[in-house]
Amino acid sequence: MKQLNIGLIGYGFMGRAHSNGYRRVNNFFDLQYQPVLKAACGRNAEQVKAFASKWGYESTETDWRKLIERKDIDAIDICTPNNTHKEIALAAAKAGKMILCEKPLSMNTAEGAEMVKAVEQAKVPNMVWYNYRRVPAVTLAKKLIEEGKLGRIFHYRAKFLQDWTISPDLPQGGTALWRLDVAAAGSGVTGDLLAHCIDTAIWLNGDFADVSAITETFIKERKHNLTGKVEKVGIDDACSFIGHFENGSLANFESTRYARGHKALYTFEINGEHASIAWDLHDLHRLQYFEHRDEGQLRGWRSIHVSDGDHPYMKHWWVPGLQIGYEHSFVHQVADFLEGLATGKPAHPTFRDALHTQAVCDAVLKSAQTGCGEKVQKV
Ligand SMILES: NC(=O)c1ccc[n+]([C@@H]2O[C@H](COP(=O)([O-])OP(=O)(O)OC[C@H]3O[C@@H](n4cnc5c(N)ncnc54)[C@H](O)[C@@H]3O)[C@@H](O)[C@H]2O)c1
Repeated sequence: MKQLNIGLIGYGFMGRAHSNGYRRVNNFFDLQYQPVLKAACGRNAEQVKAFASKWGYESTETDWRKLIERKDIDAIDICTPNNTHKEIALAAAKAGKMILCEKPLSMNTAEGAEMVKAVEQAKVPNMVWYNYRRVPAVTLAKKLIEEGKLGRIFHYRAKFLQDWTISPDLPQGGTALWRLDVAAAGSGVTGDLLAHCIDTAIWLNGDFADVSAITETFIKERKHNLTGKVEKVGIDDACSFIGHFENGSLANFESTRYARGHKALYTFEINGEHASIAWDLHDLHRLQYFEHRDEGQLRGWRSIHVSDGDHPYMKHWWVPGLQIGYEHSFVHQVADFLEGLATGKPAHPTFRDALHTQAVCDAVLKSAQTGCGEKVQKV
């Protein structure tokens, strides 16, 4: 088995999710490559050492530039806030490292385009962690659409709802709350949550043509953790947009961090000529399916428990009927990346794929500002 030495930057939520993926993948998938947890990198020496010891990393670094310079690292995994992705990716590509970058790819399309150019010029394998593509029920939706089960698609609607920023006393910025700081995040729910919905939608239903959006920032000022001062909030707290896909279907998307009672409710529904599909992150192992061509008296929504051996990814896990969860989507993403290295057929989404999502996010934010519909830039 070939070893792939991983250098991971950032040991927060995604640092843990990816490390779990690297550690478990060879226990369940037969692959030619094995990830080796070579080094973890973070700015706080003590904390990064504690993380490395918990997850089994062989060494630590406190400066990502040093990590990238190391000859014993094959792949750089970027698990840091959005404003750091570009600089790290450009340096990693220049050093000839493979790159696995967290989403959103970049702060905006222009930055993303630079990153695409860098990895393509350096010819380094690259991937962005839009992990929801690898939830088996979502992968099954892709298969059903590709098989033509839905026929012509009319509607694609998606929501991503949370409620954790309702308190006006919540500060912005700093290690734990960088998502509320526009300088670190680039945008609010659009780049953080809708980016997931948009990536899944592009994958299932093709590119967007145009969008028309509204955004709102409900709490206008918050104390900034880095300056200690009360400062303007620059992120969108909520965003709704409608639009057209290039295949002529209509888009209806909503995301907010002000939907009291919802913690991470990602849902989508697709309505086609013959059938409809619905999925819900809170019940992620099920796919709801309605088939109009069923015999009339038996017609109705079926709830498919995506846990059988012939369902995507499931033969690698337990026995039919036993479900898996959120963290497995990252194991699948690692498996697909490693498979891509072995076969030479890259795992998706690549940086170039993820740039499409970036272009939609930019058009959404621009439309909310101009009050007009905006065409999505072709990238
Ligand atoms: N795929 C998903 O579902 C998903 C979920 C959550 C977050 N994300 C993305 O992952 C990235 C990280 O988010 P998170 O939730 O893990 O954040 P987090 O705040 O939990 O962790 C971020 C980590 O980056 C470190 N960091 C910040 N600046 C750094 C620097 N200059 N050098 C080294 N380390 C630095 C922090 O100390 C921390 O360890 C973001 O881009 C985010 O959008 C993706």
